[in-house]
Amino acid sequence: MAYDYENFKKDIYKLTNINLSLYKERQMKRRIETLMTRVGFKNFEDYFQGIKTDEKLLRSFVSYLTINVSEFYRNPNQWEVFEKEMIPYLQNKFGSRLNIWSAACSTGDEPYTIAMILARHLPLNKIHIQATDIDEDVLRFAKEGFYSARSLERLPKDLLNKHFEKQDDGYQIKDDIKACVEFKKHNLLEDRYPTGMHMIVCRNVVIYFTDEAKDKVYRQFNQTLNPGGVLFIGSTEQIIHAKELGFNATDSFFYEKM
Ligand SMILES: C[S@@+](CC[C@H](N)C(=O)[O-])C[C@H]1O[C@@H](n2cnc3c(N)ncnc32)[C@H](O)[C@@H]1O
Repeated sequence: MAYDYENFKKDIYKLTNINLSLYKERQMKRRIETLMTRVGFKNFEDYFQGIKTDEKLLRSFVSYLTINVSEFYRNPNQWEVFEKEMIPYLQNKFGSRLNIWSAACSTGDEPYTIAMILARHLPLNKIHIQATDIDEDVLRFAKEGFYSARSLERLPKDLLNKHFEKQDDGYQIKDDIKACVEFKKHNLLEDRYPTGMHMIVCRNVVIYFTDEAKDKVYRQFNQTLNPGGVLFIGSTEQIIHAKELGFNATDSFFYEKM
C-alpha cells in the first residue's frame, strides 16, 4: 500500500509526540504540503525520511506547522479589559500572589505583555508567570528576549520605554521583567496540566485543533484553575457550550471557572 498522509501522521507522532490528527485536517495537510514542496520533497514518505534524518528539516517542520505569529499587546482592547477589570477582580479574589499560565506563548510576546501590565499594579517580586509552548525554537527566542520594532508596535509607549533597552536593530527586554516569566516546553494535547492557576491565557492556538481536541483542552483548563479563576481566550474565539465545560462567560473573551 502506498505511503500516504495517514502513515505520515503516525510516523510524525512516533518521532515528535505531535498528534496531527488532533489538528484541523484540511488546513494542516495543506500547510504541510506547501512546506514539503518548498523544501524540495514530492511525497510524504520521502519528506518523513528527510525529517527523521535532518535536524534542520525537523525544526523547520515543527515551527511551520505550529504557526508562531505573535506580537506584544496583540488585540489591545482585550488587554484593556484585562487591566481594568480582570486584574482588580483577580486581586480581590486571590490576593496579590497570582498564578498565571500563558499557554502556547510562542515567542514570549504574550507572557511578557502580561508581566508588564501587572507590573503597573504589583511589585515585580510578586509576579510569576508560567509560559509554555510545544516548539523549543520559540521558547529559546523568548528566553533571549530580543525583539524587532515591528513586534512591539502596539505596546503602549510607557511600557516600551520602561522595560526595553533600544539597540541598533531591535529592543532587548530588561532582566527584571524576564525574571517574572518561566518558560517551559508543554504540549497541550499530550502533557499533564499544572494545577492551582488563577488565570490561564490561551489565545490563537485552539483554533487549529479539532472540536474534540479543543473541548478536551478546555476541560483540562477548567481543572487547572482554582474556582473563580479565569480563562482568557483569543479575540476570534468563543466557547459555545461554556456552561457544560464548567465556565461562565464574564466578558467576550474571559470565562470564569464555576
Ligand atoms: C499563533 S501562536 C499564538 C501565540 C500567542 N498566544 C498569541 O496569541 O499571540 C500559536 C502557538 O501555539 C503553539 N502550539 C501549537 N500546537 C501546540 C500544542 N499542541 N501545545 C502547545 N503549544 C502549541 C505554536 O508553537 C505557536 O507558538
